Amino acid sequence: MQPFHIGDYTVRYPLIQGGMGVRISGGSLAGHVARCGGIGIVAAAGIAMNSSHYTGTNYMQAEPEAMKEELRKAYAIAPDGIIGVNIMVALSDYETLVEASIEGGAKVIICGAGLPMSLPALTAHAPHVALVPIVSSLRAAQLIVKKWQKGYNRLPDAVLVEDPDTAGGHLGEKMENIGTGDYDHYGTVRAIKDFMRNEYGCDVPVIAAGGIWDRADVMHALAQGADAVQMASRFVATEECDAAESFKQAYLDCRQEDIGLVMSPAGLPGRAIVRNHTAIVNFDQANGTVCSTGCLKKCTFKETGERFCIVRALDRAQRGDVETGLIFCGTNAYKAERITTVQEIFNELFAEAAAEEAEEAA
Ligand SMILES: Cc1cc2nc3c(=O)[nH]c(=O)nc-3n(C[C@H](O)[C@H](O)[C@H](O)COP(=O)(O)O)c2cc1C
Repeated sequence: MQPFHIGDYTVRYPLIQGGMGVRISGGSLAGHVARCGGIGIVAAAGIAMNSSHYTGTNYMQAEPEAMKEELRKAYAIAPDGIIGVNIMVALSDYETLVEASIEGGAKVIICGAGLPMSLPALTAHAPHVALVPIVSSLRAAQLIVKKWQKGYNRLPDAVLVEDPDTAGGHLGEKMENIGTGDYDHYGTVRAIKDFMRNEYGCDVPVIAAGGIWDRADVMHALAQGADAVQMASRFVATEECDAAESFKQAYLDCRQEDIGLVMSPAGLPGRAIVRNHTAIVNFDQANGTVCSTGCLKKCTFKETGERFCIVRALDRAQRGDVETGLIFCGTNAYKAERITTVQEIFNELFAEAAAEEAEEAA
């Protein structure tokens, strides 16, 4: 397995742990993944929730402090690790969180849920930070790359291609286009790779995300043209994941048919455990909840009270209320069988398999 190069950094294994919002991937998970030789990612979405900085009324002030605190935790675990952040463009405090991440020492910034058109301008004073847009189509990649090159003379340090048919959380595709069988994930990976080569003459790493669970999946992604993989759901059922034990248990308990799509108040479909969908929606109606954070730029709950408050639903799940909390997950989450450690996952993906192959070859 070759080391993975991204911007100024070399990572031992071509594995990025996917950012998982509202404190599912905080400093603990990100730090341990980085210590094992992957890229550890702290998710910015709702980072203030359940943090010591949030009093219940100061969400926007608490967010950057909470982000820096999680980065400190991660670096305490992996002082020399490659640690980055995932920041959704759809967040109201997207720009503040980009700056807080730089101040906290993030080496990689990954942005999806919208096109991060101005990211090079926001990070111009920190050129060593690797910039990675998340896309699901060649067209989205082209729009971003053209804008970055023309506007800022900067190309992405990698492009992350997320498969809407398998990934967890918010998805970059319309509800009606998901699961139709039309989407060609690795075709998109290769098309973006070719576009960068043909238009810009450079070999920009392309990272595949969505539905990657075991070593066979990793090897398949690399054989299909990806330079690295991003895995999120696989890291939930670990001791080091920042979620409550009952959130992890929900992964162990869920069946394939429990995983489906919900329409998020952010206007994007999301993949989650859907068994308790009615309880999620009813919670806010029953409690007369109103928007108190303004966490998203666009949100039907904020604007009209329609659907449910997503940051609170995700926060409840993170704290262990799996009855009324929203549990995001990818299509493979049902494969989780026991709580393991991050190191065990790395051993299975890279070390043990490599040792076995070496033995067979000898
Ligand atoms: C619990 C959970 C939360 C997520 N939160 C975010 C997020 O805040 N931002 C984001 O860009 N992607 C988010 N994702 C998507 C992952 O980063 C990742 O790309 C995707 O889940 C990959 O598919 P996999 O889970 O099958 O590995 C989330 C996924 C899960 C399972």
